[in-house]
Amino acid sequence: MALKNLIEAKQLLEQGVLGELIADATKFEESDKTNSIPQLLDGKVLAALFYEPSTRTRFSFETAMLKLGGEVISTESASHFSSVTKGETLEDTIKIIGGYADVIVMRHPDKGASKRAATVSPVPILNAGDGPGEHPSQALLDLYTIKKEIGRLDDFCIAMVGDLKNGRTIHSLVKILAERKNVLIKLVAPCELQLPGEYVKLLEEKKVKFEKLSDLDDALDADVVYMTRIQKERFESKEDYERVKDCFVFGKNELAKFNKNGIILHPLPRVNEISPEIDSDPRAAYFRQAKNGVYARMALLKMVLGK
Ligand code: NCD
Repeated sequence: MALKNLIEAKQLLEQGVLGELIADATKFEESDKTNSIPQLLDGKVLAALFYEPSTRTRFSFETAMLKLGGEVISTESASHFSSVTKGETLEDTIKIIGGYADVIVMRHPDKGASKRAATVSPVPILNAGDGPGEHPSQALLDLYTIKKEIGRLDDFCIAMVGDLKNGRTIHSLVKILAERKNVLIKLVAPCELQLPGEYVKLLEEKKVKFEKLSDLDDALDADVVYMTRIQKERFESKEDYERVKDCFVFGKNELAKFNKNGIILHPLPRVNEISPEIDSDPRAAYFRQAKNGVYARMALLKMVLGK
């Protein structure tokens, strides 16, 4: 079982892949507690090529590489500080960096950019977000978190809340959930930010139970509430953004009505969607989720680097 790269979440559905990644992430998390992480990637180099802002994704990939004994080269603002400013194509940049590094983690504003990169890259490409497209390593850490927190990846109800149109973490997660058993998905969004047709079609084809809702209160019985940020940078006008920006806020009132055994996730960063007042509730799992990103990405690096 091995992936050569990770461009879209559906690759995680290849036979045995998800199980192996979750098992390895669990082992890495355990060995981290005893400072005994195997230095499997000693001598390997990861290049982080980010054309869009990032905190968690870039740092957690870099931490994952360092914890496994590897090295990191990085540009956090590639659109300003790389040869793109001189007119270099993405393809040329990838060919060059592929000569320096053993794996490239890439975030880019264009949907499909990672796929383009993978067609010319001599080394594995890991898609760390391609515009409003996908964010498959986030789906991996989300699944790892759900498994750890509620103990299963089948037979549960998840409410996805916020910007389902532009939220790439949602797109990747939906692709995986569509293949699980007995998952009910509550899609809570304003009409104009509902899940794009291609994903709704997938849910219909796979006979997944789902509901489109416009009131967060109707989703508080879910086992997992997955909040998302309204993706300001993907709106055409400021007015369009202003109209929907605070449409759903999970605060104390929502917490009081929320499933006692449920968990609240968010890929972060949050803006106003989750009130900091609820952070100390044990059901608020989003900071644990962010930390899990390191272990999930360690497992992914191990797999694509063939260790
Ligand atoms: C997400 C992203 O970049 O898509 N952040 C992340 O990687 N954890 C979500 C977001 O920006 O809203």
